[in-house]
Amino acid sequence: MKRTITTLLSIGAVGSAAVLGSAYFGLVNVGADDPHFPAVHAFLAMARDRSIEVRARNIKVPNLKDPALVKAGAGNYNAMCIGCHLAPGLQKTELSQALYPAPANLSKSGVSGGPATAFWIIKHGIKATGMPAWGKSMEDQYIWGIVAFLDKLPQLNAEEYQAMVASSGGHQHGGGESDMHDHEGQHGSAKSEQGTREATTGHGMAEEGHDRGSAHSEPVSLTEHHGGHQAAEAPSDHRTGHSSKNHVHEDGKAHTQVK
Ligand code: HEC
Repeated sequence: MKRTITTLLSIGAVGSAAVLGSAYFGLVNVGADDPHFPAVHAFLAMARDRSIEVRARNIKVPNLKDPALVKAGAGNYNAMCIGCHLAPGLQKTELSQALYPAPANLSKSGVSGGPATAFWIIKHGIKATGMPAWGKSMEDQYIWGIVAFLDKLPQLNAEEYQAMVASSGGHQHGGGESDMHDHEGQHGSAKSEQGTREATTGHGMAEEGHDRGSAHSEPVSLTEHHGGHQAAEAPSDHRTGHSSKNHVHEDGKAHTQVK
């Protein structure tokens, strides 16, 4: 017995030293274009799923059939989520194909767990994946609106999706007049735009596609943005050091040069 314990402890110690050593000597490739080993992937997926399940357990789900909730969710989803999670008629974006782990195409697959799980993920985000913690800028009721909308999303075709976005109040959340006010400022005034971006980079980034598409209720704005971006929009983007830096990092090589 004593011998078995000693052997197990030695194996454990050697194993831990090997893991630590390989990390220290830079053997772990953190590049997002290099997938995890299957065992690492399985471990991380298990840790993520269990973490979320345990935390979402006691969340009370409101009535998600409320049409007002669904409608409000459409505008917010279109403004904040399609860059990564796509929409009917939007097959891919620079972000959707470049992130690892890849964001699910929620317009096709829907959410993989129940509504409480989706709510928890949207509110708190998922560490080191690119999925932002939207609860930092959105109150619960707006997040529930998105959850309610996600339930309908996979059944919508491009026209139905666009009609729903157009009929919603556009991008509105913040759960308070002053937040909403600040938020709107992002679209009109350069000064507050800069401030908000610095405060919440993740959000600012999602906003960018939507800013330049300008129409809150136009689902295709992101595609247009990406199409026209390299030529026509680059010069004005790169005026401020802040956005220009954002661009180089988020969008990759196509945007590193200002012509
Ligand atoms: C910058 C990219 C990005 C944006 C913007 C983004 N997400 Fe995500 N999201 C991700 C990634 C990446 C994952 C996958 C994380 C993983 O696999 O562990 C994810 C996962 C999710 C999941 C879990 C997927 C599943 O299969 O159930 C939901 C739900 C979700 N996001 C909803 C949203 C909503 C709603 C918004 C907008 C308010 C949003 N996301 C905006 C990147 C993003």
